[in-house]
Amino acid sequence: MGEEMIYRGPTKSDLDGYLSFINELAGENTYIKAEKQTRKKERKWLDGQLKAIRKRDTVMVLAEAGGKLVGNCGIARRAAYRRVRHSAVFGISVLKKWRGRGIGETLARKAIARAKKRMKIGLLTLSVMANNPVAQKLYRKLGFREFGRCPKAFWFKGKYVDEIYMYKSL
Ligand SMILES: CC(C)(COP(=O)(O)OP(=O)(O)OC[C@H]1O[C@@H](n2cnc3c(N)ncnc32)[C@H](O)[C@@H]1OP(=O)(O)O)[C@@H](O)C(=O)NCCC(=O)NCCS
Repeated sequence: MGEEMIYRGPTKSDLDGYLSFINELAGENTYIKAEKQTRKKERKWLDGQLKAIRKRDTVMVLAEAGGKLVGNCGIARRAAYRRVRHSAVFGISVLKKWRGRGIGETLARKAIARAKKRMKIGLLTLSVMANNPVAQKLYRKLGFREFGRCPKAFWFKGKYVDEIYMYKSL
């Protein structure tokens, strides 16, 4: 509370931060594809992300409060294939206790600005669960628009939920 937020790119030394972050989200069983991770698997994931960042195929911005990783936004190029290399997929999460204070919006704006510059992309896409109005509102505020919906794409907490697809031209 009232703590200074730091927004920055990740490094190898963020492994334990990302491990606690993903395991906290997985434990919450919220709207993202988060599974409990071992340190070994998380290291492999982070090494892969850092390599993709160096190649300008990914941008990641994390939010840190008092040394704790509390939010992350990633933008990953769809593929190197020339017909889609201008297109990237957007993902974001903030730990429960830290939501509703502007961290998600700041992370998203910083990541989008950085991706536009570093990756030279012209299109962002994402998918969001239909029962997640908070994320949808943030995405609309950022300029994303819905372009489709797959009925009953998820089985979540005992019910089928639609998947909404959104895009933003840069
Ligand atoms: C979606 C998420 C990243 C938003 O991050 P956040 O830090 O809570 O968002 P912010 O505080 O920056 O709010 C930004 C905007 O989001 C929307 N929003 C945030 N909290 C909201 C709430 N409780 N109800 C409705 N809209 C809300 C609003 O549009 C808000 O802008 P406004 O305050 O000007 O209206 C965060 O809620 C989260 O991590 N949720 C769980 C994981 C998830 O759903 N990830 C996205 C999967 S597609």
